[in-house]
Amino acid sequence: MKKKIVILSGAGMSAESGIKTFRDADGLWEGHDIMEVASPIGWVKNPDLVLDFYNKRRAQLLEVEPNRGHYLVAELEKKHEVYVITQNVDDLHERSGSTNVLHLHGELFKVRSTKSDTLIYDWRKDLHLGDVDHEGNQLRPHIVWFGEEVPAIDQAIKIVQDADILIVIGTSLQVYPAAGLISYANNQIPIYYIDPKPATMYDVANAVTVIPMTAGEGMEKIISYEL
Ligand code: APR
Repeated sequence: MKKKIVILSGAGMSAESGIKTFRDADGLWEGHDIMEVASPIGWVKNPDLVLDFYNKRRAQLLEVEPNRGHYLVAELEKKHEVYVITQNVDDLHERSGSTNVLHLHGELFKVRSTKSDTLIYDWRKDLHLGDVDHEGNQLRPHIVWFGEEVPAIDQAIKIVQDADILIVIGTSLQVYPAAGLISYANNQIPIYYIDPKPATMYDVANAVTVIPMTAGEGMEKIISYEL
């Protein structure tokens, strides 16, 4: 029977594509104060530093490819109704063929007006001070920074509430509200958690099957189950 499978992915999903995670030993934040490059205050203080940080990440994203884990997530759509809720700002789920992808923390290949949240543009090159929307207002990365609202969270909660199976992949479950999404799953449904260094899931009554492997290896295992 076709099931509604919800994937909740984090930085570890894209690690095997060569994109650094945030909180691992040599993580992406190393050398950067998070608040300087990913907060509204950082943006006001030093917009050039913020733009440079995201320009480098955008340029890297043009160079990397989806990994086995992404492709196996997309493959689940052959048999099931699949929703991907990702904390990642890369487009590797989409590129590997997943068709229902909700980005909780924004998208690197988009920018938006600093004056209007709904003026969003596709953007694959560097973004500089002086790049403006059609009304002349400065553009900024379309990224949810620390301290900002997560506009997609209500939609994500609804998706999780309806899930028959939840698969959590490559996230340290430290950043809310994303980490709290798991607690909205129906108590009866199975939860799989793929991560080589899994975090503890608090406040979750479900039977959680921890698969302490990389995203690619873990998804191979999931695909071998009769879901
Ligand atoms: N496969 C699967 N998981 C992996 C792999 C891998 N190859 N390599 C590392 N991991 C796991 C780590 O063990 C860790 O638990 O990925 C997780 C990455 O955790 P974080 O770096 O904290 O990333 P994430 O949970 O996605 O962070 C959430 O915080 O910095 C903000 O907005 C940013 O979306 C991000 C959010």
